[in-house]
Amino acid sequence: MKHMLLKGGHVIDPANDMDFVSDVLISGGKISALSPNINLELNEMETVDLSGKFVVPGLIDCHVHLREPGYEEKETIETGSRSAAMGGFTTIICEPNTRPPIDTIAAVEDHARRVVDKGMVNIFTKACITNGSRGETLTDMEKLSSHSSLVAFSDDGNPVLREEVMERSLQQAAANDKPVSPHCEDSAFLSVKDVPKEVLGFIPRNIFENESNFVKRDIKCVEGTGCHLHFSHMSLKESLDYIAPQKGQGTITCEATPHHLLLDKNYRDVNGALTVVNPPLRSYEDVQAMKRGLSDGVVDVIASDHAPHTLADKNLGAPGIIGLETTLGVVITELVRPNIISLRDAVMKMSTNPARIFKIPGGSLLPGMDANVTIIDMEKEWVVNANAFESKSRNCPFDGWKLKGKAVMTIVAGEIVMRDGKIVI
Ligand code: DOR
Repeated sequence: MKHMLLKGGHVIDPANDMDFVSDVLISGGKISALSPNINLELNEMETVDLSGKFVVPGLIDCHVHLREPGYEEKETIETGSRSAAMGGFTTIICEPNTRPPIDTIAAVEDHARRVVDKGMVNIFTKACITNGSRGETLTDMEKLSSHSSLVAFSDDGNPVLREEVMERSLQQAAANDKPVSPHCEDSAFLSVKDVPKEVLGFIPRNIFENESNFVKRDIKCVEGTGCHLHFSHMSLKESLDYIAPQKGQGTITCEATPHHLLLDKNYRDVNGALTVVNPPLRSYEDVQAMKRGLSDGVVDVIASDHAPHTLADKNLGAPGIIGLETTLGVVITELVRPNIISLRDAVMKMSTNPARIFKIPGGSLLPGMDANVTIIDMEKEWVVNANAFESKSRNCPFDGWKLKGKAVMTIVAGEIVMRDGKIVI
């Protein structure tokens, strides 16, 4: 189909201050016109009636683990991108903790080849800050940055322990115009316990209690480098307290997951189980502070941290939860409906802002842009059923939740990939 006419939907595009009912014409994979009443008879044109639905720039999830290569029993590029399309995401950014990790140009090229073969949505990747995410030597950021699918640097579950290494990484990333997106968690792989204070920049406390110290240290490290510092999955009030005064210039941003925004450490899922995830679920007070940070604008981005694991690995204690197919519904039901944020804010934090921070195409419905579009039905009532997910994994704390609001169509580069809850490509 060469043309598609989206009729009568309510367009919300915060980047261009659009919030009105409009038709949208898509031609040759691009947005070609937006106007209240487009009446055209074109050859090879599909017309879609969207009255009562919302038309928003394609949603972007900037924190996703697709596990390929190396852990294909948990997820693959194919199943992960089907899962993204089901959740209304036209674009995702992968974490580099695959096996081997994405720390060389060969690994980035391999990832990009797999995406061309099996990806159903737009897929970009982060690469490691340090070789093997071991925190010792920097990756070749210049070479890695030369690849168009590389958008940021992160050592994923491993914070860069040494202050001096972190500083140099921020300088290098800035020289290549890429953001650094650190995890400020303590991981099992690297324990802060044995690292002297002079090297780390702060006094280590207990395991998983150092998030805010890393935030504080990294804010200090980034000063004067010109690098964009985007903190992955913040979870503590204290972390947001350090970030809030830094918001002015727009070069220090942060994200939160739906689970850290909604669930506290006492939450038990439909099977009565506690949620095992990094960062761990926090106190009730922290959850309230995260919500405040979201509505005050301290939290710029909502990202799922989709982290698939097999049941066997979960039983062995693997941390992580999946979220591509639930994030939008959970955000609308639990954050938009109770007026913690508006739908416009949700679109800003799930499309506009990630596009800006990671400098990727998207986050806008202006004519000329790639036609990445998500259609939302705010009235659609549904119950999360993890067994029916397109993802290979089932580790979802929202299983069984009753939600109201869902993506009913996902359009990637002008092609419908998901329609009414079914993959159609
Ligand atoms: O719980 C988590 N699991 N948090 C992360 O940040 C990484 C992820 C994983 O890779 O499983």
